[in-house]
Amino acid sequence: VNYMEPYRPQFHFSPDSMWMNDPNGMVYHQGKYHLFYQFYPDSTVWGPMHWGHAVSEDLLHWKHKPIALYPDELGYIFSGSAVLDEKNSSGFGTESNPPLVAIYTYHDPEGEKSGKNNFQTQGLAFSLDNGESWTKYQDNPIIANTEDIRDFRDPKVMWHEESSSWVMTLVAGDHAQFYRSLDLKNWELSGEFGKHVGAHGGVWECPDLFKIKVQGSDEEKWVLLISINPGAPNGGSGTQYFVGDFDGKTFVTDQIEHKWVDWGTDNYAGVTYSNAPEEKRIFLGWMSNWAYAQSTPTDRWRSAMTVPRELSLHKDKDNEGFELYGYPINQFDDIVSKKSSKSIEIEPGAKEVDDYDNLNQSEVRFETNSNEFTMELGNSLGESLILEFKKDTLRLNRSNSGKTDFEKAFGEIVQKMPMPHLDSIFEVRMILDWSSIEIFIDKGKYVMTSQIFPNENYGQLSFENKSNQIMSVQNLEVSEVKRTW
Ligand code: FRU
Repeated sequence: VNYMEPYRPQFHFSPDSMWMNDPNGMVYHQGKYHLFYQFYPDSTVWGPMHWGHAVSEDLLHWKHKPIALYPDELGYIFSGSAVLDEKNSSGFGTESNPPLVAIYTYHDPEGEKSGKNNFQTQGLAFSLDNGESWTKYQDNPIIANTEDIRDFRDPKVMWHEESSSWVMTLVAGDHAQFYRSLDLKNWELSGEFGKHVGAHGGVWECPDLFKIKVQGSDEEKWVLLISINPGAPNGGSGTQYFVGDFDGKTFVTDQIEHKWVDWGTDNYAGVTYSNAPEEKRIFLGWMSNWAYAQSTPTDRWRSAMTVPRELSLHKDKDNEGFELYGYPINQFDDIVSKKSSKSIEIEPGAKEVDDYDNLNQSEVRFETNSNEFTMELGNSLGESLILEFKKDTLRLNRSNSGKTDFEKAFGEIVQKMPMPHLDSIFEVRMILDWSSIEIFIDKGKYVMTSQIFPNENYGQLSFENKSNQIMSVQNLEVSEVKRTW
């Protein structure tokens, strides 16, 4: 495959062919980042789920691997996670060759059809050859669904150092549950979170719980990511987060309002790598939205992941709470061909227009002191994507960005992102691939990810100063991003 089909991402991960949704089982081991994903190999729409598999040494260049997990008599293989069982607590390997252990959800379609409520359970598989081959555990499921919970899924497992045990977070309809284990096989419920906190416009999915240092201090907090569908701020599916504490059994927060990992319509079910080097929190999300994911205008394959992002936690300006930043990993710079930068000043009401070869494989970066301006990315067909910065809000309008009519929910909404703690001079960084834009404001404090399907690549970039002061655009760099396939 040459990966040159219309809209095929040139430097994002996408499946070689057919349908993909959530990232699964993200674990680093022996120099390799594993990425498993929800995969249906027989069609470009959702179906009986498998775990597709790919590996990378730098999170940017990927190698496709054979399917890791196939559905079996217990059901389809839904989302889940993987860990390195370093001390061989499970006994599946040896101490000199510790197993990788994957824990995922079984979704039994027959059970669902028969009207039962306990058709989702948790299963386990292990690998003794760094992910090349997988063996399902003979006593699956490891967690049955004794309370008849309809949406009971997406286990995310981690090692909890303080209590020397494994901790699993999973979702149960409208809340998260925490389980503990010493051997990854026997699990005991230890706590719950969320029945009366957070956004509840839809079912809770794909949790992730992790400890993280607060930037610039020694303080440590716990972050809980929870995806919901529907109920995201700009419609359809999205991912909220909570900052709080975890005692090994349950999670608590004093945060009053939930926050969003990403304000765009197209970053869902994202979670972080287990065992990443230097304790980094590296995040990948599925760059789509259940509101239209199955009808986007691609042919041989569907969907891609976001660029890998490093998450970091910051005290907000007023020291009132915390903000989770997401910003491309440092190595991303390695695939950006930097050209010279320029700085421009734009008079009130004036518009600066520049032409480029192809913005749909580029990184655009600058700093500005203005919070009232409009940017437009356009092509010769008159299609354009509009970013409107006004006071502390960014509006992204893709209604005339290209193909939009495959689903009403796609073009209709002007995506809004409130930015209450914006610095007076802030960075705007945008990463565009053939069919996506990822916008990072103020070094990742505010993030917006969106799919786009222009009928011709954008080549025109304009800035219009909407304020009554001179606007300065400093260090404007428009660089090509190298393809990684
Ligand atoms: C999220 C999700 C998960 C589930 C999987 C099924 O997008 O609905 O909750 O495990 O997709 O493919």
